[in-house]
Amino acid sequence: MAAYDGIADWYENEFLGRGPSGEGDGHPLGLGPLLGGLLGEGDGTCLEIGCGTGVHARSVVELGWTPVGVDLSARMLRYAGGRLPIVLGDAARLPVRDASVPAVIAVMVHTDLPDYAAVLREVARVLRPGGRFVHVGVHPCFCGGFADRADPDAVVVRPGYLDGHWTKESWTDAGLRDKVGASHWPLPALLTGFVDAGLVLERFAEGGAPTPAVLGVVATKPDRVG
Ligand SMILES: C[S@@+](CC[C@H](N)C(=O)[O-])C[C@H]1O[C@@H](n2cnc3c(N)ncnc32)[C@H](O)[C@@H]1O
Repeated sequence: MAAYDGIADWYENEFLGRGPSGEGDGHPLGLGPLLGGLLGEGDGTCLEIGCGTGVHARSVVELGWTPVGVDLSARMLRYAGGRLPIVLGDAARLPVRDASVPAVIAVMVHTDLPDYAAVLREVARVLRPGGRFVHVGVHPCFCGGFADRADPDAVVVRPGYLDGHWTKESWTDAGLRDKVGASHWPLPALLTGFVDAGLVLERFAEGGAPTPAVLGVVATKPDRVG
């Protein structure tokens, strides 16, 4: 059973606050504009790894792309199925041909993956040359088991940032970390994963104020290697 199977109903109805008929709008962290600005307009398939309940599908469609979601949790995909075409699968072994998709996105998922560097290599494998990858994830500097955000005006960063590790420790019981746990990579390790996968870093963004809660990265697969 996938970790999110046990919290899919809570994720959709309470965490995302979409309500029984899915009428809520967007993500509690207001990720729509950040994702839209990084992905930009385009056409063709946009593969979302860890699509969850499909909350970003509408934004992707509005940009002209055709979303397809992959997720490990059948219970999360029960919600996503009404929002985009879906595949039950593992981001570390994508059921997708080499060099076949023009865009991939991963939104609030890297901390759920035990080996994000391996997933980044999978992303590089399935992207077409010139294709775009958009990562939007928990900010590695200001969020994590080491960061106490109970007071939004004074985030307390305790020891722990430098040690990449998995934890269920959290300053709140209203989020995900205390329920399913989360991995952490310091910023250089996270960005090195993109570079080691052969992706070219293009743009960065942060979301959340006064202290950012999310980091966005755009990377592309080079047209030619070498
Ligand atoms: C925090 S949720 C984010 C869902 C969605 N992207 C969003 O922003 O609402 C993380 C999702 O990643 C999925 N996930 C975790 N490990 C995965 C894996 N190895 N392959 C595919 N999906 C995975 C979980 O099932 C869950 O739906």
